[in-house]
Amino acid sequence: MKKVGVAILGLGVVGGGVYEILTEKKEYFKKTQGLDITVESVLEKNKARAQSLGVKSAVMADSIEEVISNPNVDIVVEVIGGTEPARTFVLKALMSGKTVVTSNKELFAKYWTELEEEAKKMNAGLFFEASCVGGVPIIRVLQDGMQANEIRSIKGIINGTTNYILTKMASENASYEDALKEAQKLGYAEFNPTADVEGFDATYKISILSSLAFNSKVCVENVYREGITGVAKEDIAYGKSMGYTLKLLGIGKKTENGIDVRVHPTFIRNGDPLASVSDSFNAVHLVGDSVGEIMLYGRGAGALPTGSAVVSDVIFAAKHNECYYAPFKNNEKGNKETKFVTDFTSMYYLRMAVKDAAGVLSKIAGQFSKGNISLKEVKQTAVGENSAEIVVITHPALESNMQKTLEKLNKLSEVYGVKGFIRIEE
Ligand code: HSE
Repeated sequence: MKKVGVAILGLGVVGGGVYEILTEKKEYFKKTQGLDITVESVLEKNKARAQSLGVKSAVMADSIEEVISNPNVDIVVEVIGGTEPARTFVLKALMSGKTVVTSNKELFAKYWTELEEEAKKMNAGLFFEASCVGGVPIIRVLQDGMQANEIRSIKGIINGTTNYILTKMASENASYEDALKEAQKLGYAEFNPTADVEGFDATYKISILSSLAFNSKVCVENVYREGITGVAKEDIAYGKSMGYTLKLLGIGKKTENGIDVRVHPTFIRNGDPLASVSDSFNAVHLVGDSVGEIMLYGRGAGALPTGSAVVSDVIFAAKHNECYYAPFKNNEKGNKETKFVTDFTSMYYLRMAVKDAAGVLSKIAGQFSKGNISLKEVKQTAVGENSAEIVVITHPALESNMQKTLEKLNKLSEVYGVKGFIRIEE
């Protein structure tokens, strides 16, 4: 039976899950995969954490050098997260000819080319299934299940923390602040929630996923990003009454004008398959020209779901001698070969606090008309004696036209302010 030695760098949530799966399912993998997988080395500063997981002191390493010089280690699993020391450790492992499996989306989104160049030099494998959407095997689907397709679009709820917050706001009419506190209490959101709520985490993931989907490196800088911190519960409620559900979507589209990749709060129709993905669950919806629509659903985070993706890479790497590298030629150092959409087209939802007087609606409509934006729906609700709320849904318009119009609307004396602004995908 083939013996496989694994090293784990980092015993955080994911590292703990990987250790648990590899040790508890050792016999199962012998039976089902014909592989005898052993954790030969673990690099973790927190010795108490290692002890609590039952890691024997004999396999504890004190440095990355000790890990990579261990001849029993074939595959190095990096589950530290962040860029340093993860980048240095992964490069050292690759330079020593070890195959690397990583769950690190930020590292991969920012340094894919550099890591791959090292891997190629040494004919080492580099695997990253767990970097995107945790336990959902989306990378393998894109690499191995969609070759017959030109992928038209990829849309996903790829951050569980924000999906939990938005679900809570919608179902309990909770404020953003209260929903965030609850997410922190449950361990979904971190003490500093910036990476999730400002859309950075989703940006790294959609950068990796759309690169694979469209066979072109989509750098983090190519992704338009907006988080959920500005979302008001009033907008979620208005959307609901108009047939929409709010999600933080990662969106990648191949258009006639180039590749369009974004992360932002998005209203989708209640009947959209992504609308029913609630709480901390994730899902990715793909459209291929041959297969049509595909949707994958599951847990995007957590010890065992993400551990599941890491271990699937370990097994894949152990069973395949040929290394997999990116199918595209362009890279982070320049994207001259690839055209990106900088001024995308979208439908928009706007909520304005306005003066309730004769001619106000026509003045507002006039600004949309000047901006070459056609209105689809208009809803006015009286708020006080002299004020009202106007909600507008537009037909597809250019983002640049919308931004100019937004500026002009905010300058009208009859408009007290644009209180809600959300893009719509239909
Ligand atoms: N923090 C992420 C999420 C999981 O909430 O989905 C890791 O990417």
